[in-house]
Amino acid sequence: MAGGRAKLRPATGRRERDAARCGSRKENRNRGLTMPMINRRRLLGTAMAAGAMAAGVRAIGGGAAEPILLSPGPARFDLTRRGMTEGMMGFTPDGLPPVIRLRQGVPADIVVENRLEEITTIHWHGMRLPVDQDGVPWLTQLPIGAGETYRYSFTPPDAGTYWYHPHCNTLEQIARGLAGVIVVEEAEPQPFDADLALQIRDFRLGGDGQFIELYKPRNMARGGTLGTVSTVNWQVAPVLTAPAGGLVRLRLAVTDVTRVYELSLSGAAAALIALDGQPLPAPEVLPVPLILAPGQRADLAVVMPEEGREVLLGFTKTSGKSELLATVRATGASLGRSLDRLAPLPPNPTPLPDLAGAERLDFTFGWSPDGTAPDTGGFCGDVPYRFWSINRVPYAGDAPPDPARPGRPLAALKQGHSYVLRMRNETQNDHPIHLHGLAMHLLGPDGRLSGRVQDTVLLRSHESAEVAVLADNPGDWVFHCHVIEHQKSGLAGFVRVL
Ligand code: C2O
Ligand code: CU
Ligand code: CU
Repeated sequence: MAGGRAKLRPATGRRERDAARCGSRKENRNRGLTMPMINRRRLLGTAMAAGAMAAGVRAIGGGAAEPILLSPGPARFDLTRRGMTEGMMGFTPDGLPPVIRLRQGVPADIVVENRLEEITTIHWHGMRLPVDQDGVPWLTQLPIGAGETYRYSFTPPDAGTYWYHPHCNTLEQIARGLAGVIVVEEAEPQPFDADLALQIRDFRLGGDGQFIELYKPRNMARGGTLGTVSTVNWQVAPVLTAPAGGLVRLRLAVTDVTRVYELSLSGAAAALIALDGQPLPAPEVLPVPLILAPGQRADLAVVMPEEGREVLLGFTKTSGKSELLATVRATGASLGRSLDRLAPLPPNPTPLPDLAGAERLDFTFGWSPDGTAPDTGGFCGDVPYRFWSINRVPYAGDAPPDPARPGRPLAALKQGHSYVLRMRNETQNDHPIHLHGLAMHLLGPDGRLSGRVQDTVLLRSHESAEVAVLADNPGDWVFHCHVIEHQKSGLAGFVRVL
């Protein structure tokens, strides 16, 4: 990496700059971007109406006509049982990010009340939505200012496991807790006896249970800065329960900012039934280990053992040691289920690309030719480094010099046309590459559709992959590495469909 590093900019003053630069409501309207405002008091009344406990985490939604309320802001939570962890952020004042339950094909309204002292947006990771609901600051909407309220409205076309997170100052907002699981129920009920959503992520805490520096620049230029405390649903090695002998749908979502998890499940027969929310054509034997990178999800069908026995979910650390993530204990009389004749989940209506007519586009993920960054004033958590690039260009779009012109797209795609994206990682580090808005159909070694449809594709050291997309959804769709340090220091961009 050539080029000197820019000096670290002091963190103070960012909020003031954000407030000054993100514009008043009046200004927002003038730019023609929509920022619907709704009455705050009315919302608070309906806030947590549909609350229900699942795996220690409140579920909200579930087809209620009321809007779902998320209020990102400071949260009080004792992560390590050594006292409150200061500086956490949650979607409710008491912490634990709710699991949002939606139904396929049923319109949803989600109201975001920004309790943070900084701007934010919420992105619905993996969901194929109209671009104006995608939650990317400046590219698809103006950011939600401190104290402002914003309404997202969309109808989920696909069932499956998705997640939500801010798309602004993510190195801080996600790292401090702002990430939650979205479950989109199939239009028809599925034959499971229990349904558990497990949000898997680390927090970067010191021995006293308090946050330490969220990243180190020298790690940012390599694999990223790992967290120190691994959690499931914000708990260290929680114990959940499920009916003995029951068929359980385990939804695993890795929301960590850095860690590629190498997972293993013991104590039960299990099959892999969906990846990134998208059903596999047929259930598959669970790979050992199951590798899930930041942003990725896997749905497992698990047959619980006899009463009192435990199913263990663990992962292998970079040191080679394994660590327990969560325990699911079997309770009650056995339901006697098995994986025999387990049917695939109903397919989602993701459009199939046409390989014969597809144009090839090359994307190379690499280091930045120049490690320095333009001085952008720390907009939306922009960092003063550009270590990474796509096709040799480090992204500057998180901090557009002019919000009305967020830079140039990496590629222009014609609506209705199919493309094969040839993605190449020319570095030794892992890059989970995520594309908003368009489903990526993985091609097999034979160059045909493999049946896997993903929104995040992990490219390990010097790996390549080919995916086909049908450019069915017009708009500017962000394309970035989901190791947030990489994203923030250049490994990002967007493609334009028109
Ligand atoms: Cu998980 Cu650009 O997003
Ligand atoms: Cu996304
Ligand atoms: Cu990366």
